[in-house]
Amino acid sequence: MVIRSQIIGAGGYLPARVVTNDELAKQLDTSDAWIQERTGIRQRHIAAPEETAAFMGAAAARSALREAGAGVDDVDAIVLATTTPDQAFPATAVRVQALLGMKRGFAFDVSAACSGFIYALAVADAMLRAGTARSALVIGSEVYSRILDWSDRSTAVLFGDGAGAVYLRAGKGEGLGTDRGVLSTHLHSQGELGDILYVDGAVGRRDRPGTLVMNGREVFRHAVVRLAEAVDEALLANGLDRGQVDWLVPHQANMRIIEAMRRKIALRPEQVVVTVDRHANTSAASIPLALAEAVGDGRIRSGDLVLMEALGGGLTWGSALVRL
Ligand code: UT7
Repeated sequence: MVIRSQIIGAGGYLPARVVTNDELAKQLDTSDAWIQERTGIRQRHIAAPEETAAFMGAAAARSALREAGAGVDDVDAIVLATTTPDQAFPATAVRVQALLGMKRGFAFDVSAACSGFIYALAVADAMLRAGTARSALVIGSEVYSRILDWSDRSTAVLFGDGAGAVYLRAGKGEGLGTDRGVLSTHLHSQGELGDILYVDGAVGRRDRPGTLVMNGREVFRHAVVRLAEAVDEALLANGLDRGQVDWLVPHQANMRIIEAMRRKIALRPEQVVVTVDRHANTSAASIPLALAEAVGDGRIRSGDLVLMEALGGGLTWGSALVRL
């Protein structure tokens, strides 16, 4: 008998304001055709001033708890992934704790850029299996609109704002691939590649709050290689074959990267959850937002085997294999 972290509910939150490619093309030297062809993005949601990472994270968490039929008293821990926190401290996770009216447990942030959700899931899963907590909210919440250089067409068109969350509860398994819950997580980073995707400042520097800088071509090159490795690693660790994967829920950065992973696992297009067309890249929020959408509309069902993968600034990357 082993402990498994089971996903009991998933939820998401998107700002009401939608910005289309054509709207961006009014202020930038770009076009709807270029953005769609190179990335698959058609539009993105952009946060209003009050829609911070904590505000959106709390909304996504409420939705995940509602789907799970659980309340705040059923939450032992909040692990929140963000690189766009409301404040340097306290952690955005404790702001979410307060917004939820949660009077117990503990909360902290994880910073791993676009891989943040996979990292947060890995940390929460380890805590549940170790008995540190019996349940957890794992949240990804990002407002990249606040760290973009809106005059840089090579990055401004790629990102959007939003939050996603899952509610995890410790359950029992047999230690087999047929168990319900997180089967394994696989984390990697390569610090010497920190300069191909980064924010050139922080709250620790009064002179420079920072905006996002990316060598897109380099990141793309690493993404297709590293994500393919992370997919193989997850399947091998569980003795599972790619034919047993029901769903790919990838980080949503670029449709061309998603397509490369789909072909690698030999899935049909309808087995891949795609939101990049409507959400653009919401960094740590993209996987839980996609998962919440596909669970919510009934595509992903209890018992399905779901493969998640992400790569982002760091470089950081990783994968998770989960049976819903
Ligand atoms: O979530 C974190 C991980 N991030 C990623 O995974 C992103 C990975 N990278 C990418 O998705 C792609 O590299 C991009 C979408 C960022 C760029 O696509 P690309 O096919 O690699 O284009 P490129 O950077 O090679 O640029 C091609 C051309 C350039 O012009 P020249 O030098 O060929 O004359 C750019 O200046 O496209 C130009 N360009 C644009 N044109 C119109 C760059 N951005 C734009 C734009 N509109 N928005």
